[in-house]
Formats: sequence, structure tokens, C-alpha cells
Amino acid sequence: MNSILIIGGAGFIGSNLSLILNEQGFKVTIVDQFNAIDQNSNIKFIQGNFSDTNFLGSLFRKEKFDVVIQLVSTLIPSSDYGEFNNSKDLNSFANFELIKIMLENNSDKLIFFSSGGTVYGKCNMPLINEEEKLKPHNYYGFSKLLIEEYIQLQGRLNNLKYVIVRPSNPYGRGQKVHSKQGLIVVAMGKILNNQAIDIWGDGSIVRDYLHISDLCFAVNEILKSNNWQKIYNIGSGEGVSVKDLLYLIENTIQRKMDINYYPSRITDVPSNVLDISKIRNEIGWKPTVSLTNGIKDLWETISKN
Ligand SMILES: NC(=O)c1ccc[n+]([C@@H]2O[C@H](COP(=O)([O-])OP(=O)(O)OC[C@H]3O[C@@H](n4cnc5c(N)ncnc54)[C@H](O)[C@@H]3O)[C@@H](O)[C@H]2O)c1
Repeated sequence: MNSILIIGGAGFIGSNLSLILNEQGFKVTIVDQFNAIDQNSNIKFIQGNFSDTNFLGSLFRKEKFDVVIQLVSTLIPSSDYGEFNNSKDLNSFANFELIKIMLENNSDKLIFFSSGGTVYGKCNMPLINEEEKLKPHNYYGFSKLLIEEYIQLQGRLNNLKYVIVRPSNPYGRGQKVHSKQGLIVVAMGKILNNQAIDIWGDGSIVRDYLHISDLCFAVNEILKSNNWQKIYNIGSGEGVSVKDLLYLIENTIQRKMDINYYPSRITDVPSNVLDISKIRNEIGWKPTVSLTNGIKDLWETISKN
């Protein structure tokens, strides 16, 4: 199990994951619509559109991949119905077609990135485990639920070997300060530009933040374990309110920030903290980077650039 294809591998998670898997000895190929790979690395880059079935078909006929990791998604938790509707081919059918093409070409192992922060929706539990019923509260989470269900159907019908990962809120190097997602990096961008940060609600909502390197090493451990037909939460297992997080950022980097508070959004659930005991018990992975150290590390790169 050596050759890995990462689709959407030039983005935030993919660029970190490809480097770490490459360092760990995997032969990594990236497919993405944009090239963001260092030409000197021995990671192979192929430019292509995930929703182009002819392109994917000829790729899988030409090359053999032991495991495919699918990262492409153009939705985010605040996406509305219009965005969901306009991108439904890419965010649902392209995934179904990928699996069909994989199985036709004897490639039967898939790691799919779902969303631990959104598929569960509103839960009363302090820690949410993988057995919890999925009741997403936004279109992004709903699109992930749809793909998760399809993947499990293909597990039953065609013995697709899958791992569905449900990450919490990864943060770290490679995240863009001007993106619409990622509270930590967005807050740092606002500090650098002397702008106020917009917060929906009173800052009491609680989330689980995970350093990107911890997420990538979790995937490395999943690959090494060779356990399939699995679903894993991947998070820190610890909850922090938005207010406390902003306070921690200010204290850690010794800079003040201005905050604009807006009415809360229906798509934001009050609390989401993942129970990570399943992946810890079955695979032995646990997070190692504290939130304070992760914030310091990210600020160091962002403030330099
Ligand atoms: N970042 C997070 O907070 C987070 C949290 C949980 C789950 N996830 C999931 O992890 C995955 C990766 O997230 P990310 O933050 O790295 O996203 P990202 O937007 O940084 O990366 C996605 C990549 O997909 C590529 N892409 C988009 N459309 C494409 C197409 N038609 N053909 C080929 N490539 C295309 C983009 O160019 C980009 O490089 C997503 O599925 C996301 O839903 C992300």
C-alpha cells in the first residue's frame, strides 16, 4: 500500500498531507485544478478537473493507485442553497463517479474527508461519538452526509474499502488569511490588517480545533493500520468557546483585536466537540500539538509573510 492519489491535494489540507505522507515513504500523486506544488519535491502533480469523468477514467486506466484520498469540496458551512444547488455535480455526483471509475479499474480503497464539525448538527452531548445520528444543520454538512451514505452503500454492494474521516476544525500553515473559513487564521489576518473580526452570536459557541499536522498524522496512521470500512472522528477532543479562543490568540501573540458581533446564524450549532476515543483505541493516534503552540506556529508563518 504505497501509491496514494490525493484529489484536491493542492489545497490547505492536501498540501500539508501530501508532504507528510511523502516524508513517511508513500509515493504521492496529486490531482487538482491548480498547481501549488514545489517543483523540486518528488510529489507528482497532475492538473485536472475532478468532475471530468473522461479525465479520471483515463488516469485510472493509465496508473495504479493503492489508496485514493478525496478532498475536493467547494462548499463551506455558511454556503446557502444557491451554492449547494450550483455545485451539486461536483460535491455529490463527481464523488459517485469517482467510486465507479475506481472500482472499474481495480482500485478499491478510498479515504473520504467528511466534516466532524457539521454532519452531526445540534447535539446535547458534551462529546460527540461516531454512533451519533447525523442531522446536519447546513448544506455543507448535508452534502457530506449524502456522500458518506453513498460510500457506505458501495461498501455493501461492491466491497469498496473506505475510511470516512470526520475532522473537526483543522488550522495551521497553508491556510489563507483571506479565506471565509478557519476562525484562527482569519482572526490573525484581521490583526495584521488592523481590521475588526466579524463574529456571529455572542462568542459562546464551542468548537474543537485541531492542528493540521495532527490531522495529517492521523491519516498516516489510518493508512498504516490498513483497517477499512471505518468511520473516525479526528479532533482534539477539547472544546473552546469562540470568545476564549480569541482571548487565547490575543494573549499568545500579544496583539489586541477588535470584534464586531452580529446576530447568530441558524447554520451554527451551539457546541461541537468530537469524541476521539475510537481512533485512539483502534489505531493508537492522539493529538500532540497544544492549541497555544499551534497558534504560535501559525502566527510565526503568517506574520513573516
Ligand atoms: N478546512 C477545514 O476546516 C475542513 C474541516 C473538515 C473537513 N474538511 C474537508 O477537507 C477537504 C479539504 O479541505 P481544505 O480546507 O483543504 O479545502 P481547500 O479548499 O483548501 O482545498 C480543496 C482543493 O480542491 C481543489 N478543487 C476544487 N474544485 C476542484 C475541481 N473541480 N477539480 C480539481 N480540484 C478541485 C482546489 O483547487 C483546492 O486545492 C474538503 O473536503 C473539506 O470539506 C475541511
